[in-house]
Amino acid sequence: AGHASGTPAMPQKMAPDNISLLPLDALPAGKPHAALFLLPTLSTKPSVLAATVTAEPFEAELVPGKKTVVWAYNRSIPGPLIEAFEGDTVEIRFINKLAQATTLHWHGMPVPADQDGNPQDAVPAGGERLYRFTLPIGSAGTYWYHPHPHGDTPEQVYRGLAGLFIVRAKNDVLGHLPEQHLVISDLRLASDASIPDNNMNDWMNGREGQFVLLNGQREPVITVGETQRWRIWNACSARYLRLSIPGRKIIVVGSDGGLLERAQVVDELLLAPGERAEWVLAGPAGGVSLMALAYDRSKMGRVAPEQDIKLASIQFTQDSVAKLPERLRTLPPKLKPVAKKRVVFSEVMSMEGGQHSMQFLVNGKSYDMQRVDLHSRLGDTELWEIVNDSHMDHPFHIHGTQFEVLDTTLKGKTTPAPWRAYKDTFNLKPYQSARILITQQHRGLRMFHCHILEHEGQGMMGQVLVK
Ligand code: C2O
Ligand code: CU
Ligand code: CU
Repeated sequence: AGHASGTPAMPQKMAPDNISLLPLDALPAGKPHAALFLLPTLSTKPSVLAATVTAEPFEAELVPGKKTVVWAYNRSIPGPLIEAFEGDTVEIRFINKLAQATTLHWHGMPVPADQDGNPQDAVPAGGERLYRFTLPIGSAGTYWYHPHPHGDTPEQVYRGLAGLFIVRAKNDVLGHLPEQHLVISDLRLASDASIPDNNMNDWMNGREGQFVLLNGQREPVITVGETQRWRIWNACSARYLRLSIPGRKIIVVGSDGGLLERAQVVDELLLAPGERAEWVLAGPAGGVSLMALAYDRSKMGRVAPEQDIKLASIQFTQDSVAKLPERLRTLPPKLKPVAKKRVVFSEVMSMEGGQHSMQFLVNGKSYDMQRVDLHSRLGDTELWEIVNDSHMDHPFHIHGTQFEVLDTTLKGKTTPAPWRAYKDTFNLKPYQSARILITQQHRGLRMFHCHILEHEGQGMMGQVLVK
């Protein structure tokens, strides 16, 4: 990554558009779903979760009989699940065995800025560091961690670096339910089973692999006996997941930052890249499918049912009924904002070396590690207006805290948020805007960006300094 500041150059690594890919049936479908393993905890003191995470390249057998070089945390794809309780102190010794600099970023978690894996705090190739933070009371939720070095985040993630983090409340109203953890990612494999670089189209629209995987498997079978709680992550670089279980309703109980106030029953739920959800699964015995229905991000194509993707088979082995408390959580009353900010995502076409290329901008600028774009005061509640002034969807994400969406506006029509929820990632449709309430709880520098990683990597990112 040669570009330390200013407008990033066009990405140096660029694969041709016409690489031949492995067919879908190269990955066998329908294996029973295997739960992710827990990160071995090495706690030495009460309330301290201490563990080692190593990022390293290794040869994996993703496709039977073929070798793929992947980059992974603790040689696991998806990376290990870290679980801790509110109030715990987390100490992660991180070892970088990659040939390039990287960081561990704690997506959505309220960790101090100097522990949050900012691009400015890169761990050099061969280096290591300790990440240390305490999880505040009220931070229970469904998070993840991934690299955040300047410019190289897309490649490090599509080669396999991403892991999961759950923060639990000690008195969790759904704590009695058995849980399934479902991380959805996609993977592109060339016909020799290698992971190709991004091509031009990926750098414009975001990378989507031909294999859409659930916990690293293609179309696994998930068994639901008694009522279950699911946590679902969209860890794809750019793929939108319109999740549905045709023939059944979905009971949504949580979002990025923990439980909703009340369960919401919907037919489908859109998870943009980076977003998470919690569901409760119950219903009559029988077999159904978890689907990602086709989604058109540019609104220029056509949403066709033949583009629907089956993510998993779900086998309900017995009849069950979801008995949920009327109230899952009580959110504090909304505070009156004391400051306002405006963030505009835009794209401009430019000519570079006789080639058309797109620039992805925040407030008219490309990301600069040395530049502070916005200033906030610690503990101030602010009203941010996020505007998508472009023809394609962009998911807005900010570090260090959760926010609450008040309403969205599209074509002059304002719609209040359907329910209150804590979010750190929120999708904006083309020319849509959203008003959010946000409060930062730690001093320091925080990134905000589009979570289509190719857009973030090319500069659709800004920085707010909290003082
Ligand atoms: Cu999930 Cu700035 O990242
Ligand atoms: Cu983040
Ligand atoms: Cu984007």
